[in-house]
Amino acid sequence: MLSKKMEQEFNKQINAEMFSAYLYLSMQAYFESVNLKGFANWMNVQFQEEQFHAMKLYNFINERGGRVTLAAIDAPDTEWKDSIAVFAKVYEHEQLVTSLINNLMNVAIEEKDHASANFLQWFVGEQVEEEANASDLLEQLKLIEGKGHGLLMIDRELRQRVFNAPAEAAE
Ligand code: FEO
Repeated sequence: MLSKKMEQEFNKQINAEMFSAYLYLSMQAYFESVNLKGFANWMNVQFQEEQFHAMKLYNFINERGGRVTLAAIDAPDTEWKDSIAVFAKVYEHEQLVTSLINNLMNVAIEEKDHASANFLQWFVGEQVEEEANASDLLEQLKLIEGKGHGLLMIDRELRQRVFNAPAEAAE
């Protein structure tokens, strides 16, 4: 059984993951508007991943006898100066999400809730990957100054990205 405090914190994280999904969908729309289909595809995969994160939390709350309560999702930004500005925001946002996951882990430890701490380990690992993906792309974009042939090359590469739900999705 989840404590009320833990339940509240997990519900807040569902909202943060849904906001992340919304933010990446907004970034997808931005890239569609400037005809960078590969970047738009990358954002769509990110959008799906964030929904997966939210549902993983949703399922865990239910599994532990808690109650899911959904709150309003903030509106994301809709315009960015260029692709570098977008990925600077992605990287910054993922660092924020990492801090939220770390806080959740701290609450689980304070509450001596080992099941929640064990569950959150997956998110700790996932955030390492999320930050690395954002940072790698940001650095590549900076190298080519976010334009020209290099930008089109990266765009072509990003068309290949597909969403693969981790095995736990089938649970
Ligand atoms: Fe759900 Fe991108 O962290």
